[in-house]
Amino acid sequence: MQSILNSTILLDTAAVAPTVKQNILNILYMFGSISFIYGIKMLGKPETAKRGNLIAAVGMAVAIFGTIFLYENEGKALGNHIWIFAGLIVGTVIGTLMAKKVKMTGMPQMVSFFNGMGGACAALISLVEFNHLSHAGNFNDAEPLHLLIIFLGLVIGSISFAGSMIAFGKLDEKIKDKTLPLQQVVNIGLLLVILVIAFAASFDMITNPNVLFLILGLSLIYGVLFVMPIGGADMPVVISLLNSFTGVAAAMGGFLYDNKVMLFGGILVGSAGTLLTVVMCKAMNRSLTNVLIGNFGGSKAAAGEAKSMNGSIREVSISDAAVLMKYSKKVVIVPGYGLAVAQAQHVCHELEQVLEQEGVEVKYAIHPVAGRMPGHMNVLLAESNVSYDKLVEMDDINPEFKTTDVVLIVGANDVVNPAAKTDPASPIYGMPILDVEDAAHTIVMKRSMKAGYAGIENELFYSPKNRMLFGDAKKTLTELVSELKNI
Ligand code: TAP
Repeated sequence: MQSILNSTILLDTAAVAPTVKQNILNILYMFGSISFIYGIKMLGKPETAKRGNLIAAVGMAVAIFGTIFLYENEGKALGNHIWIFAGLIVGTVIGTLMAKKVKMTGMPQMVSFFNGMGGACAALISLVEFNHLSHAGNFNDAEPLHLLIIFLGLVIGSISFAGSMIAFGKLDEKIKDKTLPLQQVVNIGLLLVILVIAFAASFDMITNPNVLFLILGLSLIYGVLFVMPIGGADMPVVISLLNSFTGVAAAMGGFLYDNKVMLFGGILVGSAGTLLTVVMCKAMNRSLTNVLIGNFGGSKAAAGEAKSMNGSIREVSISDAAVLMKYSKKVVIVPGYGLAVAQAQHVCHELEQVLEQEGVEVKYAIHPVAGRMPGHMNVLLAESNVSYDKLVEMDDINPEFKTTDVVLIVGANDVVNPAAKTDPASPIYGMPILDVEDAAHTIVMKRSMKAGYAGIENELFYSPKNRMLFGDAKKTLTELVSELKNI
């Protein structure tokens, strides 16, 4: 028995003894994996985020080129270099052009689009691998686990692709929210049907190879149905969730090819996306179950019930606002989506500098879901060289409002809406918000009385402590800066 074991071990060792190329490739993969960890860690802070992105990108390039030139299967190199490089060039050119052309306000759409491409790649890997099995004979001859990984990669990748494309269309305002009757039941039922078919096909209970296309079609339909009813303030949660799906789908590819860096990268994206989903859910006060069922937020919530407001709004002139701020000890600026729309980040930074020259302490209050993507305000303000230590997260700035003279709200709305705390009927009820009403004065700078993303009225605008400063943020801030310089 022992000798059989020994000879088996020897045989195995001989069969799997790695070549020099494979050893080098493994080292490159390890380098790639470590760079992903470092890169993601550095993305956590605005001051290191750019470098982190670069480090992870270098790691990815090393892994890709290592695979192209060093990968061997049973002594055979990868080949197909013309196709591979043609694909790389086309992808690089399109990706670079899109990234260069995209406006700050269009970033969430682009993230969604690129995420969809990742999902599509994972699904394509499954299609190709299934095709290999079918060409080699009956696909049922393959290991059930191998088949299951192929089908799961196909299911998750297709859902991520279809869902991301719908999210892209919605964020671009090309697709409207739509809820079918019994949407939740249909969604759960469809997901169960897909999983049952995938398991049955993996374990020899379905032998028709066309099952692959059935799973592909149903998964694409599920992806559409999953995202279609979601809208309003809950969209970022969905994007982040779809991002984690893409990571898991890529990890399935890593299992298929026994490719460590693909597995590792996929798991990292999957877990980072899941963590971000949880953080987002918390920031928007939505449960994850609610997200998974795919029926929350939506057009009904976004439309909201128009609540009649007590009191009236009061406006403030540029010169009065300038005087109020100049003679304040502490001013907190709350940036929101409107700051990005107006591209007013540079003049906002100028306002901060002018006030500081007058001896006023200035800080920025950063709400986790201000704008339209995670970290939107941080990226925007970093672009205009606002010092990172001036950006204060919601939990840290909230206690400071009590000692703040003026809060200047620039193009923000939902993130300062007290209905989140006071109105149980409001669609944003329970969402943590910036407690700006604790300050001595608030000034809201926006173009009109129109609602924000959640589509609801804001009681803060009617508060006796509040003044409205109507106009485009860039224009108004520019006027405010010149007024301050002239006082
Ligand atoms: P919003 O509630 O969307 O309010 C933005 C306000 O900016 C609007 O009321 C608009 O009013 C004003 N505005 C637009 N263009 C302007 C301009 N050129 N000059 C001045 N003001 C302008 O923004 P928020 O407070 O940042 O809240 C974000 C919302 O988006 C939340 O509901 C959040 O849940 C949701 N959301 C967040 C994300 C992430 S991850 N950040 C992603 C998707 C959705 P006027 O039209 O009257 O000017």
